[in-house]
Amino acid sequence: MFKIAVAGTGYVGLVAGVAFAEMGHQVTCVDIDEKKVEMMKSGISPIYETDLEDLMQKNYAAGRIEYTTDYQSAYREADAVFIGVGTPENADGSANLSYIATVARQIAENIEKDCLVVVKSTVPVGTNDKVEQFIHDFLVNDVRVEVASNPEFLAQGSAVHDTLHAKRIIIGTESKWAEELLKKIYEPFKLPIVSVNRKSAEMIKYASNDFLALKISYMNDIANLCELVGADVQDVAEGMSFDDRIGSKFLNAGIGYGGSCFPKDTKALEYLASQNGYVLKTVKAAIDVNKDQKTLLYKKASNRLITFNGLKVAILGLTFKPGTDDLREAPSLENVPLLLDQGADIYAYDPVGAANFARVYPEGKSSKGTITYVDTAEAALEGANVCFIFTEWGEVKAVTPEGYKMLMRTPLVYDGRNLHSIQVMEEAGVEYYSVGRAP
Ligand code: UGA
Repeated sequence: MFKIAVAGTGYVGLVAGVAFAEMGHQVTCVDIDEKKVEMMKSGISPIYETDLEDLMQKNYAAGRIEYTTDYQSAYREADAVFIGVGTPENADGSANLSYIATVARQIAENIEKDCLVVVKSTVPVGTNDKVEQFIHDFLVNDVRVEVASNPEFLAQGSAVHDTLHAKRIIIGTESKWAEELLKKIYEPFKLPIVSVNRKSAEMIKYASNDFLALKISYMNDIANLCELVGADVQDVAEGMSFDDRIGSKFLNAGIGYGGSCFPKDTKALEYLASQNGYVLKTVKAAIDVNKDQKTLLYKKASNRLITFNGLKVAILGLTFKPGTDDLREAPSLENVPLLLDQGADIYAYDPVGAANFARVYPEGKSSKGTITYVDTAEAALEGANVCFIFTEWGEVKAVTPEGYKMLMRTPLVYDGRNLHSIQVMEEAGVEYYSVGRAP
């Protein structure tokens, strides 16, 4: 078993730390935020993830995981330091690597024994070469230090499960020493390990995410055409899915992909290509389709209604997908300002994301309209003139066609997640519009 330090306690870092502890390693999670560290020590997770708090508490009680701001000691004692800090997007689409650089320098200045630095954060191809050089430049003691790439493939909402039951572990190394050490660290997971060089590992992450984004944008593009010619995109997707070269996953058309990964990683790869004098046409197309898709329903509704001014607008779902309180790049963030600007009175419901949303749009008057947060889907729908479904939470799916008909003043529903049968909605007396399915 190894002594592992993890830098950063966001989705990537904290979940990795807990998973290593669960596998029997001795883990120290480092974060600069004192409050967050205190919270984690008392068994509270700073992020909402199924099973995460249980595993944090179990491994903390067993003495296998600790949380600290004292990075000096954590890095000094570690056999390996995993970096899971954020790489947010710069204005030009490139990745901001300043958090990685800070951690790299702290490692260089503090390690006193041989140490493998493992970058889990998503970083542009070639970054880990630079990180290694950077560490060597600032290294204080005469020790062996190398950088490995070990991209993360977890999805928010199922982060713990995805980590413990990953489809593959990608390790990108430049020496036998690094490769063997990482393989030993991952041995207890009993998962397939793909060992490649550092740049290929970095590229596998982007190529995988961008492929999935492309798949979604492709289906959204097809959906828009389906609607024009009278086909049903859900039937089309089902028909396609029997071909196992296509597969059945990520074929759901809707109001576009959001989250912290696909939007950022598509732009980052496009940027990397342009820096190398290449135009990545497919990824560029995925980005373009996604941009238009997010306000598709707003535009449809605008054509149907004279104005949103003074209308009660129900919004069901604010987060970019169910199972998370994350709002990053969520379609709701694109649509709410448009509606408020039109003078709409929004009643928004989200089982876990409302508090985060209220930080961006506080309850009350905002622009020309107002926004109110309610505790149930029914409360949002009560007396509404129009409803937008943005996230497929179980609580949102549970609203029946009769529910819309009964609760709304005018049962007019724009469904960004294709949750209902057009026929059943019509039979219930609901005017219903969705994505890629002609009404
Ligand atoms: C994504 C990838 O799925 C993970 O494999 C990857 O590790 C992660 O990014 C990352 O790079 O960290 P995540 O962003 O958490 O995970 O969420 P997804 O479940 O992939 O959904 C992303 C977006 O695509 C959501 O807005 C979702 O609604 C949308 N989506 C997904 C569709 O519109 N249609 C689909 O068929 C599937």
